[in-house]
Amino acid sequence: MTRSILFVCLGNICRSPTAEGVLRAMAQDAGLDLEIDSAGTGNWHLGDPPYGPAIAAARTRGYDLSQLRARQITGDDFRRYDLILAMDTENLAATEALRPAGIETRVRLLLDYAGTGFDPGLQAVPDPYFTDDFDGALDLIEIATRGLIADLLRPDGTRD
Ligand code: 4NP
Repeated sequence: MTRSILFVCLGNICRSPTAEGVLRAMAQDAGLDLEIDSAGTGNWHLGDPPYGPAIAAARTRGYDLSQLRARQITGDDFRRYDLILAMDTENLAATEALRPAGIETRVRLLLDYAGTGFDPGLQAVPDPYFTDDFDGALDLIEIATRGLIADLLRPDGTRD
């Protein structure tokens, strides 16, 4: 059973804290008791709150990211979390490189949960730190997180 989920992006100040805030809200609405966190593969923003425009965009949709603080993913996260969800294929590869021997925690792309009817070729949540499209990133994160919640609510969720 999946009880703990870690989101991973590059800086841990835009996409993964946004996903953390969205899943916290959606899990609560769905009555799911999950441990949720986020981390970055990079170390530029350790201890920082999310980027101001990410906080502002999330706030307009009812998600409060202001108390979150950036940290870097470690190999120990593979022991602490049942499922690690990366925002793009580079984050996925950088995360996999930290996997301790013998630990089988699933590492997947968040957009694997975006479901049918959605561009199946889209693997990455484009980084709004560079694109400035915070609403577009939120749209993708919300769609995929709804899919994730649906998957978690299945008796044998989540998928391999
Ligand atoms: P994120 O965006 O991975 O969605 O948090 C980034 C934010 C900052 C940097 C890179 C990505 N940076 O290089 O400072």
